[in-house]
Amino acid sequence: MPRIFRLVLNFVLMIMQKKIITLSALTVLVVAGIAAVNKPNWKHKNLKILPDDISEQKLDSIMESYSKALGVRCSFCHTAVQGFTDSLDYASDKHEMKENARKMM
Ligand code: HEC
Repeated sequence: MPRIFRLVLNFVLMIMQKKIITLSALTVLVVAGIAAVNKPNWKHKNLKILPDDISEQKLDSIMESYSKALGVRCSFCHTAVQGFTDSLDYASDKHEMKENARKMM
């Protein structure tokens, strides 16, 4: 009788260990996933006047203030992505207004 107890106990322990390993692996995956999503992976590519280490928030608020001050939209200085009229290619220098604005910065 005690022998069968020990066998059962061993079996339960084995299953629990497996569960713990699976759980740990899952936790690691979830944490890594959250970290990957939260990581700021966007980075400006074509700044010539503004400092390269500028934060995304700061850059946004500067662009926001230009647009407000001039009473225009972002597309006043930024060209649309080819084939997508509603998204702008902010890094592109195609729009002459962007160069004009640079001269004033
Ligand atoms: C008056 C013209 C003007 C307006 C309006 C404007 N921008 Fe810009 N934007 C610029 C210039 C000039 C640069 C490049 C600055 C530099 O070279 O340091 C720039 C750069 C950027 C960049 C960095 C692109 C890169 O990858 O290098 C982003 C993002 C951006 N603008 C977003 C916006 C958004 C969003 C708006 C609307 C809220 C906006 N801009 C409105 C002139 C403008």
